[in-house]
Amino acid sequence: MKPGNYLKPDNIYKGDARKLLKKIEPDSISLSVWSPPYHVGKEYEKQYSFEEWVDLIKSVIGLHYPILKPGAFLIVNIADILCFPDKNMPRIQAMNIRRQIAAVTREEVLEAQKKYPSYNRDELAAVLGCSEQTVDRRLHGNNIRGGKYNDQTRIHLVSGMIEDAGKKAGLFLYDRRVWVKDAAWQNSKWHTLSYRAVDEFEYLFFFWKPGVTVVNRNKLAAKEWVEWGSRAVWSIPSVRANDNHEAKFPIELPRRLIRLLTSPRDIVLDCFMGSGTTAVAAVREDRKYLGIELHAKYVEMAKKMVKEEMKTRRLFADNAEELRDLPKLVPHKQLTFPDR
Ligand SMILES: C[S@@+](CC[C@H](N)C(=O)[O-])C[C@H]1O[C@@H](n2cnc3c(N)ncnc32)[C@H](O)[C@@H]1O
Repeated sequence: MKPGNYLKPDNIYKGDARKLLKKIEPDSISLSVWSPPYHVGKEYEKQYSFEEWVDLIKSVIGLHYPILKPGAFLIVNIADILCFPDKNMPRIQAMNIRRQIAAVTREEVLEAQKKYPSYNRDELAAVLGCSEQTVDRRLHGNNIRGGKYNDQTRIHLVSGMIEDAGKKAGLFLYDRRVWVKDAAWQNSKWHTLSYRAVDEFEYLFFFWKPGVTVVNRNKLAAKEWVEWGSRAVWSIPSVRANDNHEAKFPIELPRRLIRLLTSPRDIVLDCFMGSGTTAVAAVREDRKYLGIELHAKYVEMAKKMVKEEMKTRRLFADNAEELRDLPKLVPHKQLTFPDR
């Protein structure tokens, strides 16, 4: 590919990651952070069979080797676990001594929706006194842990496939951290009806491309090293308002990775860009971003998010004089940009 035709940083491109990653300048990416479709039946991934999904993940990881800078990292955020109906699995002879099912019916949810047409899932849940998951389940019958299947469900781990794909690509699995999500469940009335637990954590797999990696302890404040820089478990509340994109990750996730693993003006890639969270984090940390996303509506959403972030930054910059006086009231280090 001719250098003039490479994808340009600070842009979000619409298209398939498998095609567009080939158009990125070799050795140019300082960090790639993404969360792919998880194969759990979300709207944006309905087109993939399990085999196609595996192929997507493997191909995308494989395409990273040439574009990463030597010594740079690819971070894959994914939940390890999938549920499959399995005809051969004997039916579990469950004897539920006490079944706690949210009393809310589908009709009640539909009625509330009619009464409050502008309400999102969280707001409807508050009105109905149930969890956001119950509202979704009543409306769409979604239950990612297998409740929708008549056959028994067994679980399947995907981390091995991801590790192998990295290895095959010439990348080394360097570390893994755990993102503990929370809280989406803390206030909920959800209780397991079996011995299966709710999915409340995901992984961050760190792949490294051989080369010189500058380890700069000055990148983070001492407090940040203690609180998360050196920690394997990151507790970050998940995004509650998932009504404009089904699976946003919280901005704190890419922000930490960006602060830990890159320097200002480095290029940060997300080839499953979704609503633009990684790009916003990159802008917030004064890095360049490069985004790829299959669906036009999310490309537009991501571009809008970046634009808003830049506007906020300009506003802060324009008022820098006044803000300089603020430390008298608020210690300088506490001045952060408003979170979404
Ligand atoms: C888990 S979501 C990412 C969400 C994102 N991290 C955020 O915070 O908004 C995965 C995204 O990958 C997109 N996607 C699915 N297949 C793709 C493909 N082949 N190439 C690029 N993007 C794809 C989906 O449309 C979806 O927005």
